[in-house]
Amino acid sequence: MTEQTLFIVKPDGVKRQLVGEIISRFEKKGFVIQKLKMFTFTKELASEFYSVHKEKPFFDELLSYITSGPVVVAVIEGNNAVATTRQMVGATKSFEAEPGSIRGDFGLGFTENIIHASDSLESFEKEVNVVFK
Ligand code: PPS
Repeated sequence: MTEQTLFIVKPDGVKRQLVGEIISRFEKKGFVIQKLKMFTFTKELASEFYSVHKEKPFFDELLSYITSGPVVVAVIEGNNAVATTRQMVGATKSFEAEPGSIRGDFGLGFTENIIHASDSLESFEKEVNVVFK
């Protein structure tokens, strides 16, 4: 079932020059890049993007991290894109992520966890409209 999803190489991933490596993994897997851009989140845009987490205790920390530097966002398309991409990204806490996943191979952080990926088709629809509006 062909789907689209979105991933964001977060500020730590860009600073560590992992953009090429990450895009390459998705291309080699068979996904086709449909949209790609680099930008820096404003607080306002980040609040909109992460609005589901507004009431969470970590919201301020999440916002200051995601606005701390440029990010790279990609819309990719392929079979079972949402679930397969989440698998390739790995668990939220990088130190728990499976080896072979992006977080499992490249990080140990929690707040700084390299990459975001939409967790459902509904989230994708919302997120793509925020970052590509
Ligand atoms: S939840 O509560 O289960 O919905 O949260 P979770 O899916 O684990 O995480 C949602 C996003 O918030 C980030 N996060 C945090 N950032 C900073 N500090 C703390 N303590 C923290 N906990 C979770 C987490 O990396 C997720 O970011 P995205 O970009 O969605 O992967």
